[in-house]
Amino acid sequence: MSIAFSAETSSFTLRVRSSVYVIEARADGRLVHVGSAPASGGWTPTSLSQYPDADYIWEPGGPRYELPTFGDVAHSDVALKASFPGATGDLAPGEANHVPVRDLRLRYVSHEIRTDAAPALSAKHQQLPRESSTQRQTLVIHLRDIGYDFHVRLFYRVTPEYDVIERWTEIENRTNGEVKIESLAFGAVHFPIGDYDLTHAAGSWAREFIPTTRPIAQGVTMLAQQGLNTGHSVNPFYLVHERGQATEHAGNVYFGALAYSGNWSLRFEQLPTRATHVIGGYEQTDFELILAPGATHTTPAFVHGVADDGLGGASRRLHAFARDYILPGFTDDQLRPVLYNSWEATYFDVSADGQIKLARAAAEIGVELFCMDDGWFGARRNDRAGLGDWVVSPDQFPQGLKPLIDEVLRLGMRFGLWVEPEMVNPDSDLYRAHPDWILHFPGRPRTERRNQMILDFGRADVVDFIYRALDTLVRENDITFFKWDMNRYSTEPGSSAGVGIWRKHVEGVYDIMDRLRTAHPRLDIQSCSGGGGRIDLGILQRCDQAWTSDNTDAIDRVWIEDGYSLAYPLRAMECWVTHEHNHQTNRRLSLDLRFDVAMRGTLGIGTNIDRLTDDEKASYSRKISFYKRIRSVVQNGDLHRLANVRDGNVSVWQVVSADRRQCVYSAVVVDQRQGQHTPMYRLRSLLPDTVYRVTDEHNKELLRVPGGQLMSLGVPGDARSAGLGRSMRSRTLWIEAV
Ligand code: DGJ
Repeated sequence: MSIAFSAETSSFTLRVRSSVYVIEARADGRLVHVGSAPASGGWTPTSLSQYPDADYIWEPGGPRYELPTFGDVAHSDVALKASFPGATGDLAPGEANHVPVRDLRLRYVSHEIRTDAAPALSAKHQQLPRESSTQRQTLVIHLRDIGYDFHVRLFYRVTPEYDVIERWTEIENRTNGEVKIESLAFGAVHFPIGDYDLTHAAGSWAREFIPTTRPIAQGVTMLAQQGLNTGHSVNPFYLVHERGQATEHAGNVYFGALAYSGNWSLRFEQLPTRATHVIGGYEQTDFELILAPGATHTTPAFVHGVADDGLGGASRRLHAFARDYILPGFTDDQLRPVLYNSWEATYFDVSADGQIKLARAAAEIGVELFCMDDGWFGARRNDRAGLGDWVVSPDQFPQGLKPLIDEVLRLGMRFGLWVEPEMVNPDSDLYRAHPDWILHFPGRPRTERRNQMILDFGRADVVDFIYRALDTLVRENDITFFKWDMNRYSTEPGSSAGVGIWRKHVEGVYDIMDRLRTAHPRLDIQSCSGGGGRIDLGILQRCDQAWTSDNTDAIDRVWIEDGYSLAYPLRAMECWVTHEHNHQTNRRLSLDLRFDVAMRGTLGIGTNIDRLTDDEKASYSRKISFYKRIRSVVQNGDLHRLANVRDGNVSVWQVVSADRRQCVYSAVVVDQRQGQHTPMYRLRSLLPDTVYRVTDEHNKELLRVPGGQLMSLGVPGDARSAGLGRSMRSRTLWIEAV
């Protein structure tokens, strides 16, 4: 079994395929981390019994608490800080009970091991089932404060063949008074003693997910977002590796991600002893949780694990886990459909006739899901009016959406609609009726961004109102896809929910999405937040795909894709082919390059396709058919980054099917210099003695060689010219066992 308890050492051993994680309840009840180690090392951290039982966390062998609390820990970061209204226990003679007690010391009470019989979704959904998981186990460790009737339960759900442990924390107040929680993490993870580097993604609007590596220096290194979305500037995942010890393909990499879409932080700390840990959970800046007597709070999850095959191995584990356990089940298709989105074609200028023209052109080239973007509702003719009024505009659609949707369905496509449910323009019927429904502090300025304000999801009536508006849209129209957008960052978080608004907002978004999906099982949702501002494992539990950036320039996108791919699965990465003359960067890029970059995830088209020439339409059709041929591997396969754009000017991806008999090779040279050869890269993970056929989008055979040869020589490096100057070249190849 994956979880074992030894009564002799009072320790828990959690075993996954490639690593082992050990926890010990010490004689005095303190729950401490013993160690974690890759299984390939052949050893298991056993017990701390031979180490001095130091109280002080900076002493060698000092306690590395599984959940460090303010009280047990005084000089370094903590995962939980609670304040009790008055003392329990004995007071010194004459001592007054007048100070809140900010002191929490948790001790082991009991534990249980639960078995979760649910199989991996892969068995149900994937064309090529991977080793199917039949049982997942969850360890629950019960802790209690030394005096107060305050309980904490630590959860560890183990998915062995994915090398993943999911952690979350439940706190329960059984005292008679309110307990103020001043800081709360979902979990803490300790790394083996050492010096580490942190690889993660950082950026900004239109430049999300830029891969970054930096040292975890002594002291605290923090990734955080105080917001109502996940954030553009940093994303809640990490790959941590011992300095100089890991590459893309080799070495131990400790990975982790928070399943949460709001105010989050990942705080890495290296102590003077070189003991290093990360505490991940709610961001502390404006945090408070009042736990009433009898109340319980359960945190979102912190997913973590260890890969023994480099950064690539860590990404593959996160991808597989997200595909099979995080992303919602499939609806109509096993594969993500090819999408059309109207935004860059029409912007706000949407009309029934115009959209019908686009839909006909989309169906002709092979699109399967037609999504009408912003501009279809209320008085929304630009970004200054109408947000919040989720009724079809009678000016643009005099007969409602029915003629358009009927035509889309007649053409054999599904229909989707853009919404931005959390927002309101002051120039809207909703705001005129309910000016008090927005986040603000009474008597203080109400900041607008993109002419919009944020609805107060701290109010249950507001959340319910928005749910009913969206539910009505789906009930009255054949809508099977929402693009759920969120286009501003938060200011003035004044709410009836007080400081709790940070959590309430995210809970409101999750609640609406969950209710919609339950009421409408065929509905898919795309997460968008001014591009890639809301991508994390929490939103991906509710959304089938995500928009990684408003920047659709194929060259800029290569960086974004490389960074996104560090943690998130390709099937959720929506990518559009847009105009030759890019709207964001003004750069002209060939159709080949635009398709090659967009085919690395779930393909979408965002051009003004009703203006294409017949030749252009034929090229679009051919490339979309090619994508349909390769997409089961792109969307469900294992990614190997053969070359990272951050290491040079080349990005080469290879995505391999679970049975290793099919793969997609995608190479982009972003800036080729005169005289520089296009480099060749050895393929990985093929069957050495099996003969593979290498073909291009025309199904032209380029090679027929054994896998061993492809893994030793790669494919020829003569990536075709992008046709618009020699500096940008790309190619996508399909490689299949004969
Ligand atoms: C921001 C999104 O990222 C775009 O794709 C588009 O939907 C606009 N919002 C619409 O306002």
